[in-house]
Amino acid sequence: MRLADVLPVPVVGWAYPAAELLLARAEQLALMTEEPGRITRRAFTPTMREVQEQVAAWMHAAGMAVRRDNIGNLIGVYSAPTPNAPTLLIGSHLDTVRDAGKYDGPLGVLAGLACVEQLAVRGQHLPFNLEVIAFVDEEGLRFHTAYLGSEALSGDFEPAYLRLTDDEGITLADAIRAFGGNPERIAQDRRDPATLLGYCELHIEQGPVLESNGIPVGVVTAIAGQTRMAISFRGEAGHAGTVPMQLRRDALCGAAEFVLAVEAYTRASPDMVATVGRINAYPDVSNVIPAEVAISLDVRHKDNSHRQLVCKLLLERAQHICITRHLSLDWRIVHENLATPCDPALSDILGAAVQQAGYPLLHLPSGAGHDAVAMAQITPISMLFVRCAGGISHRPDEAVQVGDVASALDVLHRFVHLLAADQPSLATEA
Ligand code: GLV
Ligand code: MN
Ligand code: MN
Repeated sequence: MRLADVLPVPVVGWAYPAAELLLARAEQLALMTEEPGRITRRAFTPTMREVQEQVAAWMHAAGMAVRRDNIGNLIGVYSAPTPNAPTLLIGSHLDTVRDAGKYDGPLGVLAGLACVEQLAVRGQHLPFNLEVIAFVDEEGLRFHTAYLGSEALSGDFEPAYLRLTDDEGITLADAIRAFGGNPERIAQDRRDPATLLGYCELHIEQGPVLESNGIPVGVVTAIAGQTRMAISFRGEAGHAGTVPMQLRRDALCGAAEFVLAVEAYTRASPDMVATVGRINAYPDVSNVIPAEVAISLDVRHKDNSHRQLVCKLLLERAQHICITRHLSLDWRIVHENLATPCDPALSDILGAAVQQAGYPLLHLPSGAGHDAVAMAQITPISMLFVRCAGGISHRPDEAVQVGDVASALDVLHRFVHLLAADQPSLATEA
């Protein structure tokens, strides 16, 4: 039996209005921002609370039991009729980068909600609990790390993270407390793998593959590994008008040389991407030679050993630059994860749902990171990508077509039904 044959193909007249509603909701959430005129929503802020309260109200209205866990993830549960049923998690994040688009993160949360709403209007329940999770921190904008929300569930959240500080000097522990969470109990957020069927995340592609193939949705094969570092170059401050050029120890010149070296190394390395996205100069004054420069470095590749080798070479290059310029160097890894394959069995079911809905089945890797990376530590993961305009993301002009969102909702709905039909074999394999 092919999975695609398990259920007859129903008419999906509901999906288009559901997609319209989803997009209207995404517009509404986009108005909840810390910076008027731009979408910026950091974790553990009053703005994050506002957005969670709105999503929680929609979850309640859909008949879900709603709670917030100790780190502050918002969780809505649509329960199975039977006790002790396993749980399928559907989720994504509600935090954003600075000056973000409307769909990176919220699309996946709202899709999970739409899936439950469709079940609820039909009075349908599944043989598993369906939990919709809105992770509180994925992008890492506030504490310059990543996946804090999903790592709480996977058990990878390290207590030392609680001492991280944001740009105002507020510790993560205090931010979680102010948000209403309990940093001392985050270990209790860890989910027991034995209770889970899997995790599914729907996300905009953030790249051009689906668009160039003329296909609305695709099934993700694997998520690239990444290393994020904080690197500091230290030199010596001095008067901009009096210190001769050959006597300077200019930290910003050293950092600039390094940034260009990063670009040159990675351009020469197929499939490698590396980005210096943050730069802070001290004392940050136009007539003082920069004494200290802190930068971020984000390196990604599908091959772990290749990424690690390039990180090593780049750090050697930074050391060399510092020796020749009489600077000192400090660096630390703030986040690292291995390339993460999606689960073949769960992805096959997702692929069957794509085909059953009448779309060509296209598999593609993800260069972007996702909460699915952390969730893979405790449960099988699968991801459905939705075509986005020009592959644009992490920018305010992120855009999706309502028809593509309808296709994705249709696929997600079929996926949960196929999973329900396939549950005994999946449970046996797990
Ligand atoms: C998350 O969006 C990431 O890939 O950095
Ligand atoms: Mn993102
Ligand atoms: Mn995202």
